[in-house]
Amino acid sequence: MRIILLGAPGAGKGTQAQFLMGKFGIPQISTGDMLRSAIKEGSDLGLAAKRVMDEGKLVSDDIIIGLVKERITREDCEDGFLLDGFPRTIPQADAMKEAGIVIDHVIEFDVPDDVIVERMSGRRVHPSSGRVYHVSHNPPKTEGKDDVTGEDLIIRDDDKEETVRHRLSVYHQQTKPLVDYYAEEADEGNCAYHKMDGTKPVDQVSEELDELLS
Ligand code: AP5
Ligand code: ZN
Repeated sequence: MRIILLGAPGAGKGTQAQFLMGKFGIPQISTGDMLRSAIKEGSDLGLAAKRVMDEGKLVSDDIIIGLVKERITREDCEDGFLLDGFPRTIPQADAMKEAGIVIDHVIEFDVPDDVIVERMSGRRVHPSSGRVYHVSHNPPKTEGKDDVTGEDLIIRDDDKEETVRHRLSVYHQQTKPLVDYYAEEADEGNCAYHKMDGTKPVDQVSEELDELLS
C-alpha cells in the first residue's frame, strides 16, 4: 500500500501516520522528520535546511526529491510506505510520476487555517519516534513525556505563530495545487483520492481512515 498524506501544516498528517503505520505495517516517510534529523546531526544538509525551515519556507525540490528517492528504495518499503509532507510542490509530484512510482491512495486532510494556528500552539513532539501530542486535544499520559519511552517532549522551532502563518501561506501557494493534480490523477484511474474532514477528533479521523482503507 502506497499512500500520500496531503494537508496543511498541522492538519494531522503525522498523527494519522502513526495510526496507519500500525494498521498496515508500512513505514512513515516524513520529509520534515528527515530534515530535522539532519539538523540534529549537524550535516551540511541540516545546516542548509535549518535556515529555510525556521523561516517557514520550502527546502529545494532537488534536495527533497533526492532524499525521498533514496529512502523508498530501502528494504522496509517493499510492501509500501506512507508519504507525509511529500510531495509538496508540482515538480515534486512530477518527479515521482516520472520515476514510475505508483500511488494507491491520496488522502487530503481538510482543516481551516484558524484551527491550525490553535493546534500548533499546543503541539508537543517526540522527535526520535515522530509521535505527536497536543496539550489538550491529544495529551500524553504524563505531562511533557512520551507515552512509550517516557522521554521529554519538545516544541518544534517552526511552531511560533508567525512562522506557522508563513507556512500556511506557502501551503496555499505551492502545495494546495496538488489537490487538483491528484483529483485529476484519480479521474484518470491512476490512484484513489479521499478528502477527509480533519477537524474531527483524532480517534474519529482514524476510524474513518480505517473504514476507508479496509
Ligand atoms: P513538516 O514536518 O512536514 O511539517 P508540515 O507539513 O508543516 O506539517 P506538520 O508536521 O506541522 O503537521 P502535521 O500535518 O503532521 O500535523 P500533526 O499530526 O503534527 O515540514 C516542516 C518543514 O520542513 C517545512 O516547513 C519545510 O521547510 C520542510 N519540508 C518538509 N517537507 C518538504 C518538502 N516535501 N519540500 C520542501 N520542504 C519540505 O498535528 C498538529 C497538532 O494538531 C498536534 O499537536 C496534534 O496532536 C494535533 N492534532 C492532530 N490531529 C488532530 C485532530 N483531529 N484534532 C485535534 N488536534 C489534532
Ligand atoms: Zn508532521
